[in-house]
Amino acid sequence: MKGVILAGGLGTRLYPCTKVTNKHLLPVYNKPMIYYPLLTMVKAGLKDIMIVTGGNYAGDFLRILGNGKEFGLKDISYTYQEGEGGIADALRLAENFAEGEKIFVMLGDNILEDDITEDIVDFEKQKNGAKIFLKEVPDPERFGVAEIKNGKVINIEEKPKKPKTNLAVIGLYLYDNTVFDIIKTLKPSDRGELEITDVNNTYIARGEMTYSIIKGWWTDAGTFESLLRASNLVAKKEGFIF
Ligand code: DAU
Repeated sequence: MKGVILAGGLGTRLYPCTKVTNKHLLPVYNKPMIYYPLLTMVKAGLKDIMIVTGGNYAGDFLRILGNGKEFGLKDISYTYQEGEGGIADALRLAENFAEGEKIFVMLGDNILEDDITEDIVDFEKQKNGAKIFLKEVPDPERFGVAEIKNGKVINIEEKPKKPKTNLAVIGLYLYDNTVFDIIKTLKPSDRGELEITDVNNTYIARGEMTYSIIKGWWTDAGTFESLLRASNLVAKKEGFIF
């Protein structure tokens, strides 16, 4: 399975810091943010990884990650998203890289404690379709929110004002290769983006979506509050007492 890390977008919620760098290069405790999704993928056994980035500082990813040797990789693939057309728009750029294989997609600002190797192995065996990861959160209105019935995900709402559950769809997704055909059918949402939630709802409508509930902690790091939370969680895990 190949891995795709999405690290485009303008990171406007972290202005003014993101005026002079890409959000995913900001520090989370003692490492640049992009290290965490990369380490999650490497831990799960992935060797073929692409980073989709964008904006004015794309070249800095090469300076920080190089050819991936530090992570035990033979190389890293990079591509560039023009503008910020949304998460599904960024993923679209990985079609040639995927070469018909299943893919593990991770948002560049998501950090999680769990090792998800087992889920990757299970998904290799799943004939087709997709798998998402859920986590109970106190502020579901900030995320895609999943509704479950009889052990199946029946719908996902993107940032609902009145969430039906507190189960956030976190930024890790396992897809078969039809994901690229689904993206071609999408229309921009009210915020002008191709939404990953529309991709996931297509798999749900086809009856091809499975899910797993994350046990350890998880956070995004795209706002000042969540960036601080991410640093604190990582620092605590690494034994820093404060
Ligand atoms: O963190 C999980 C949440 O991420 C999910 O629960 C939501 O369903 C999903 O839509 C997403 O919500 P956000 O609004 O927090 O996503 P954000 O716009 O912050 O983008 C997350 C990452 O996706 C970002 O760090 C880089 C990548 N991205 C985003 C956009 C808009 C791109 O590569 N290109 C883009 O155009």
